[in-house]
Amino acid sequence: EAGRKLFAGEAGFFWAAAPTGKLPPMSNLEIAFAGRSNVGKSSLINALTGRNALARTSHTPGRTQELNFFDVNGRFTLVDMPGYGYAAVSKQKVQAWTGLIHDFLRGRATLARVFVLVDSRHGLKAVDNEIMDLLDKAAVSYQIVLTKVDELKKGEAEKRVAETLDALKRRPAAYPEIIATSSHEGEGVSELRASVAKLLVE
Ligand code: GTP
Ligand code: MG
Repeated sequence: EAGRKLFAGEAGFFWAAAPTGKLPPMSNLEIAFAGRSNVGKSSLINALTGRNALARTSHTPGRTQELNFFDVNGRFTLVDMPGYGYAAVSKQKVQAWTGLIHDFLRGRATLARVFVLVDSRHGLKAVDNEIMDLLDKAAVSYQIVLTKVDELKKGEAEKRVAETLDALKRRPAAYPEIIATSSHEGEGVSELRASVAKLLVE
């Protein structure tokens, strides 16, 4: 299947952008992973690329502190973002991260889609709605990806998918398909790869 082929081969880190630092020059299409702290952004990048430790993960929120750029086969770029909505770091840091996230999401011509990751146990929170407001305003395509579905019973996951889809009705830049994933058990990973493949041929 197209998605699997696309992710087979080389994947490597090539750039980190800190809040006051520079972004890499724009070249290949970029797909960014946004979401609340600890939702599983870095883990999902590892699952997609089939690498255990490409992006650094941690039990404690606030692990990813910069925009990390990963090249996949010289074809496209995955961007791991710091989590938003995490109160336990300093106010200054939260402000710096928020500025970095917002500037990147609003002003990047090569950004093809943002996967907005949402913990399937918790559903959409206020900070997720704020990010979606920003993306709708900037007309940047985004897609909700539910994470950690291995923690839910099947019926609960289906309910969460339906409820989340319902919340996207009046959001113009939202791609109307929700993918439920588990980085730990592999659920939804091939669907997500297929979604990336579709983006790149469009
Ligand atoms: P920050 O960089 O701090 O914003 O976090 P993140 O969104 O990158 O999350 P990360 O991938 O570091 O994972 C956070 C925690 O969630 C780790 O303890 C992971 O093992 C756990 N986790 C990630 N994906 C899954 C999953 O699919 N299922 C379960 N049960 N746990 C997961
Ligand atoms: Mg991370």
